Amino acid sequence: MLTSNEIRKRFLDFFEKREHTVLPSASLVTTDEKGQTNATLFNTAGMQPLIPYLLGEEHPGGGKLASSQKCVRTNDIEEVGDNTHLTFFEMLGNWSLGTYFKEDAIKWSFEFLTSKDEGLGLDINRLYVTVFAGNENVARDEEAAGIWRAIFNEHGLDPEKRIFYLSSKSNWWTAGPDSPAGPSTEMFYDVTGTLVDGLTHEEFLKADDEQKVVEIWNDVFMAFEQKAGKVVGPLPKQNVDTGAGLERVTMVVQGKTNVFETDLFSDILESIKKDALMYQGISARIIADHIKASMFLISDGVVPSNKDRGYILRRIIRRAMVNAQKIEIPFEKLADIFVLIQKQYDSVYGTMQAQSVVVFQDEIAKFEKTLISGLKEFEKGERDAFILFTTYGFPFEMVKELAFSRGESIDENDFHSKMKEHQDKSRLGAEQKFKGGLAGHSDMEVKYHTATHLLHQALRDVLGNHVFQKGSNITPERLRFDFSHNEKMTPEEIKRVEQIVNEKIKDSLPISFQEVPLEDARNKGALGLFGDKYGETVTLYQIGNGDEMYSLEICGGPHVENTNTLGTFKIQKEEASSAGIRRIKAVLE
Ligand code: SER
Repeated sequence: MLTSNEIRKRFLDFFEKREHTVLPSASLVTTDEKGQTNATLFNTAGMQPLIPYLLGEEHPGGGKLASSQKCVRTNDIEEVGDNTHLTFFEMLGNWSLGTYFKEDAIKWSFEFLTSKDEGLGLDINRLYVTVFAGNENVARDEEAAGIWRAIFNEHGLDPEKRIFYLSSKSNWWTAGPDSPAGPSTEMFYDVTGTLVDGLTHEEFLKADDEQKVVEIWNDVFMAFEQKAGKVVGPLPKQNVDTGAGLERVTMVVQGKTNVFETDLFSDILESIKKDALMYQGISARIIADHIKASMFLISDGVVPSNKDRGYILRRIIRRAMVNAQKIEIPFEKLADIFVLIQKQYDSVYGTMQAQSVVVFQDEIAKFEKTLISGLKEFEKGERDAFILFTTYGFPFEMVKELAFSRGESIDENDFHSKMKEHQDKSRLGAEQKFKGGLAGHSDMEVKYHTATHLLHQALRDVLGNHVFQKGSNITPERLRFDFSHNEKMTPEEIKRVEQIVNEKIKDSLPISFQEVPLEDARNKGALGLFGDKYGETVTLYQIGNGDEMYSLEICGGPHVENTNTLGTFKIQKEEASSAGIRRIKAVLE
């Protein structure tokens, strides 16, 4: 039986032998031609890094390419745990950029699937294909159907019971509204081993629905350009874009009905089984898939945060933790699973950064504190997603899923309106304070004020808790901050402080405030001068919510609503102010 590593290698060797240039996998983080990260968050198909070339640009590797591409898709994250859905998967693909077209593409697909020596040695009696049925813009794909007909005839099988015409929905492929596009032919394999005599169209649809036949490969004939979802004309070249999910291919080759039973998952699941006190299959599968996805995302430089890619990573890690809690695996074991997966793939996609497990562990440590108390509240009946988010750091989607698994639903509108009210309130607070005494302060000064809070906390993080504010002066051009510290800061310390502040800006942390008795502020560990200066109640400004909370400081405001408005923070000068007091001048750019 072929292993997944052998399958991957056979695929690349097969196409290399047929004059394809084998490309290394691109990073999971998508970039445009200029190397800027772009709006689609992750590579979701092997063709994605190749879009400019499918649109007509010359590829340095030539007109025939092949790769095994790392992919992440999170649109079906709730389905992970069934037989076929994964958030991380590998896509095998071969491409023609205006060189070969339907004839060779189909011939090679068939050859690779069935050849015992060079390919997968699958049984042609269990193979079924679909072709494009046509629509108002593009004709029914008789050419592709004709090529398949010849192949099935040659092997003594009735093409009428093997080839099915399907509509635009399943056999028209495009990467988005503005993308190269084209009709496709998809190959399906009977995983039961019983559907060997051919099927009628209806029987095929039913078998597909029941996952008795599963799609294993898609050949797209990319010859059209789409804009805003409409075909606007032919591409300069007729291209081929194919994609075969390694996990599914491995599943059929290894005779399994479920991707988690393949060798791509067996060691990981075994290790989870060993560590879980209350083993349960679905949770184990979710943990295996999510830690694998986290490992690959972190290795490609994604860090957990509250935005975009970072948020997806955070959500995946937290989902893994909730499931670990459910089947009673100690959280520290999750890092062992991470390392196990890292080792499994180490030689496949280049050396993984050994230290990436630290990013994973940090995120676990961050959430661990609140997860258990949050879950307890949830068990006790707390269903207010707003409270669970602001107090316990539960992402909204997670609250929704937890409720769903108990057959309940969560009021989405209520959550969003409370979030909005919460944000409006802190803005209103800022405006009121603005009028009361701080009038005349420009937007820039308000920004510097918030940056000062971040700086204060970052200095304490880097230098130690002996750091306290000794003075602050803000103009629309810069901030100046005096603090207790005995030595000159090293360039590394300065850089680290800058980095932390900029990370907090990137994390898009909301700022809120509340009036609390002085005693409470002190008990919460808020920063501020606990002298006679304050009255009975004080205003406490908080940057970030729940376990994301970064700064808590007694202050009159005003502040911005969210750190993401601050721009880039830069320390321009660090110098002595007086004995034991240092002074920093910094700007926001
Ligand atoms: N782009 C097509 C897919 O993802 C073929 O590679 O299925």
